[in-house]
Amino acid sequence: MSELEKYLDRTFELAIKGKGFVSPNPMVGAVIVRDGQIISEGWHKEFGGPHAEVDALSRCKDARGATLYVNLAPCCHVGKTGACTDAIISAGIKKVVYSNSDPNPLVADKSKQILEDNGIEVTSGILENRGFELNRKYFHWIKTNQPYVTIKAALTLDGKIATSSYQSKWITGPSSRGFVHQLRKGYDAILVGANTVLYDDPNLGLHGLSGREPLRIILTSNKDKFHDLKDLTVFRDSNYVFVDSIQHFEEYCSNNAISSVFVEGGSGVITSFIKSGLVNDLYMFYGPKIIGSEHISVVSELGLPRLDDAYNFNIESVVNFGDSFMVKLSSK
Ligand SMILES: NC(=O)c1ccc[n+]([C@@H]2O[C@H](COP(=O)([O-])OP(=O)(O)OC[C@H]3O[C@@H](n4cnc5c(N)ncnc54)[C@H](OP(=O)(O)O)[C@@H]3O)[C@@H](O)[C@H]2O)c1
Repeated sequence: MSELEKYLDRTFELAIKGKGFVSPNPMVGAVIVRDGQIISEGWHKEFGGPHAEVDALSRCKDARGATLYVNLAPCCHVGKTGACTDAIISAGIKKVVYSNSDPNPLVADKSKQILEDNGIEVTSGILENRGFELNRKYFHWIKTNQPYVTIKAALTLDGKIATSSYQSKWITGPSSRGFVHQLRKGYDAILVGANTVLYDDPNLGLHGLSGREPLRIILTSNKDKFHDLKDLTVFRDSNYVFVDSIQHFEEYCSNNAISSVFVEGGSGVITSFIKSGLVNDLYMFYGPKIIGSEHISVVSELGLPRLDDAYNFNIESVVNFGDSFMVKLSSK
């Protein structure tokens, strides 16, 4: 690992501390280095709070002549906070090193130009792939104005998510469930269908993990049926919303800066999302059980006459959870 990579690696470690707190902003960490020594560190801690560069600079008595490492290009616009480029210039930083340009049109390559115009040397594109992975959801959302959509399901080896009498607890074991709570932390919202709310009474929360509780979205064309069911766990506080179609889901996300959504089923909802083409990736947790064709399939009819018409995915990883295993897939 080169010197530049070593310090950028540290910015990734710092950035991830913002997971569950900063979205829809990206996770960003910053390190200030002089003469081979880290003299200050910072990270973006909460949405609307100081950016990582400003956080690091605020804890540094004298940054003149030092190098600032940051995983994402510094911002150059005034939003909820001041422009990071201004803070960097006035602190007397001599060099800036970052991994990824910010696709946000307010930043793009403008900040690099501003820094260089002020005599600051800029190096970019180091560990770019890792930086991209870290903020994959942010990059997708900024580029498309669509939320990053992930499907998660627990299924039997023959692809069933529940019995025909709507029993689904438990297809997989406790260790994979803990992992799912961790995953939820990385999303702005969790979405389920009306039947899942009715039959499972799911919590859809972080179960004590630190972080902002994701918004709970319930997909139903008839929210009135929940009128007398406000004792269900999803309605425990006001952090939920109904949407009545995929189109209104998209509009809601766009209007409310929902940058990522974790879709937790059931079959009707997963089918709607597969058909919509909005799915970015899937976490499929398999319990080693077979229950037969009379039960509820993870995806219902798609009306595809030929194998060539199938939706195709890339296998990203396979992870063993002891009593189950997970296949992570991404859309082709
Ligand atoms: N193993 C797992 O990972 C897992 C996860 C979740 C659920 N489950 C199981 O799955 C079963 C429920 O599955 P399910 O397929 O019956 O129900 P579901 O997907 O939870 O809900 C289906 C309902 O969602 C609404 N919906 C779906 N697509 C829609 C669209 N495009 N626009 C508007 N509304 C839409 C409709 O509600 P309205 O009819 O109200 O319009 C539809 O009837 C339960 O047994 C549950 O335990 C298993």
